[in-house]
Amino acid sequence: MTRLRGILITGASSGLGAGLARSYAANGVQLVLVGRDAARLEAVAAACRDAGAAVIVGQFDVGEAEPLGRWLIERDDAVPFDLVIAAAGVSAGTGPDSKPEGVKLAAMQVRANLLGTVHTVEPLLPALLKRGAGQVVVIASTAALRGLPYCPAYSASKAGIRAYGEALRALLAPRGVAVSVVVPGFFDTPMTDRWQGPRPFMVGLDRMVRVVRRGIDRRRSRIVFPRLLALGSQAADLMPAAIGDRIMRAFRFHIEPGR
Ligand SMILES: NC(=O)c1ccc[n+]([C@@H]2O[C@H](COP(=O)([O-])OP(=O)(O)OC[C@H]3O[C@@H](n4cnc5c(N)ncnc54)[C@H](OP(=O)(O)O)[C@@H]3O)[C@@H](O)[C@H]2O)c1
Repeated sequence: MTRLRGILITGASSGLGAGLARSYAANGVQLVLVGRDAARLEAVAAACRDAGAAVIVGQFDVGEAEPLGRWLIERDDAVPFDLVIAAAGVSAGTGPDSKPEGVKLAAMQVRANLLGTVHTVEPLLPALLKRGAGQVVVIASTAALRGLPYCPAYSASKAGIRAYGEALRALLAPRGVAVSVVVPGFFDTPMTDRWQGPRPFMVGLDRMVRVVRRGIDRRRSRIVFPRLLALGSQAADLMPAAIGDRIMRAFRFHIEPGR
């Protein structure tokens, strides 16, 4: 009997994570879907089951290492993960009057985004390395390439994810485990609905899901889309700081409080 293809997706109750879950749902696949909102998670799980996948849902806060890690190892023991996608993420930012985010809001983003990625990936690395197979996908952002003035902690968390993914890739590739670092620009989800301001080159969710899925399937080291926005951010980073800062300040926006 052929074994199920094991796929873990965090942030699977909404946006990119939910889109990827639906895209991978098929006979012969076991999806392990992680999020916090039980109702939204179950709705995605039901759609994936309808498409033929076996689905297990886990209601966890990825910011809490211990319960998540223990559960992920148990899931991997039952059906080994071939693909681990850490897509959970939150965004906040400065107030409409550029009021600083403050410790609580800033730390919350670093915890959910950067530590959430680490809490998802690290517990599974020993098993992936033992098998000498598998693929890890982490989701950064163009905000990782040049920090955005109106969401400093989000930018920092995403820069951390990007550095973590790039480092892991170099470390793990010789041992048979691939790492893909996704650097997306704006795409249409409940997260971007809360971003009030310019969102250049914004694409629909379906398009972003297709691009990311294709990159994952080809085991691309980096999945950067749209490229022009990423190039613009990198160019701003290479300029003298005062000029880069002036350009970045033009993209003035604020982020409405999350759900
Ligand atoms: N949308 C964009 O334009 C954009 C651009 C660049 C990068 N990204 C990144 O892409 C990823 C997906 O974003 P999206 O736009 O699809 O966002 P979204 O629609 O708001 O979905 C975010 C997902 O992350 C989950 N999540 C958030 N905090 C969590 C926590 N502490 N524990 C467990 N799950 C948590 C949410 O689950 P619950 O709601 O169930 O808690 C939800 O499933 C994020 O990493 C985001 O930073 C987005």
